[in-house]
Amino acid sequence: MITVKNISKSFNGTQVLKDISFGFEKGKTNLIIGKSGSGKSVLTKCIVGLFEPDEGEIFYDNRDFLALKSKEKKDLRKEMGMLFQGSALFDSQSVEENVAFPLRMFTNMLEDEILERVNFCLNRVNILNKNNLYPSELSGGMQKRVAIARAISLQPKYLFCDEPNSGLDPVTAIVIDELIKEITDEYKMTTIVITHDMNSVLEIGDNILFIDNGIKKWEGSKNEILNVKVKELHDFVYVSKFLQNIKPK
Ligand SMILES: Nc1ncnc2c1ncn2[C@@H]1O[C@H](COP(=O)(O)OP(=O)(O)OP(=O)(O)O)[C@@H](O)[C@H]1O
Ligand SMILES: [Mg+2]
Repeated sequence: MITVKNISKSFNGTQVLKDISFGFEKGKTNLIIGKSGSGKSVLTKCIVGLFEPDEGEIFYDNRDFLALKSKEKKDLRKEMGMLFQGSALFDSQSVEENVAFPLRMFTNMLEDEILERVNFCLNRVNILNKNNLYPSELSGGMQKRVAIARAISLQPKYLFCDEPNSGLDPVTAIVIDELIKEITDEYKMTTIVITHDMNSVLEIGDNILFIDNGIKKWEGSKNEILNVKVKELHDFVYVSKFLQNIKPK
């Protein structure tokens, strides 16, 4: 479980997050949704420690993240898996080297143990016999799956995915969503997925935070979202539904 309390963040006098509080639950795919520029990535970067919020608190289970000493913070970082927005892999490294990277960086595992773990993770995301290929030799969906294999290589308790299915066709996007949901359940991770894809929302939205202009406007689940009366959320859902031709229940 990750809990954020009253998080605010400004850049050069412009406030981009305003007093956001939310609980991201363990074993669930927790979504952050909202329009482009609404503050989803900045919030996530605050949670993982890439930005420091101006105000507020962040708890990883019972650990007060902002109060941790640097050694404790480093230990906690090893419990996080991340899938960043945009291209997620090191282009100059093979599939195997990409997935092995966190293991070489953060553990003292021996080479044969590393290879075993790499193959386990690649197998889990259904990438077989591709160890020596480079990212440019894979399809977009395969690249995302390798990135997921890398993100889970250290058996993280907390998984962060910033738009994991952007740039993918709708069918492959659902495969990636389902994979994230499955591994979240299997390893009982606290998973945070940023998305503005309504298909994803309706597929995997166990627990959803909707932000608009840096403000929390709604929270709830996929079962409630189509009938919400909050104007900004209704507009977000309606435009997406219109574009994707999803029929309301
Ligand atoms: N390092 C930074 N310095 C200054 N402003 C920033 C910085 N990072 C983000 N911002 C601003 O914060 C606001 C929120 O950006 P953010 O990247 O969180 O949007 P987002 O919701 O993730 O959008 P998208 O869906 O397009 O990825 C934007 O106005 C952006 O310009
Ligand atoms: Mg973003």
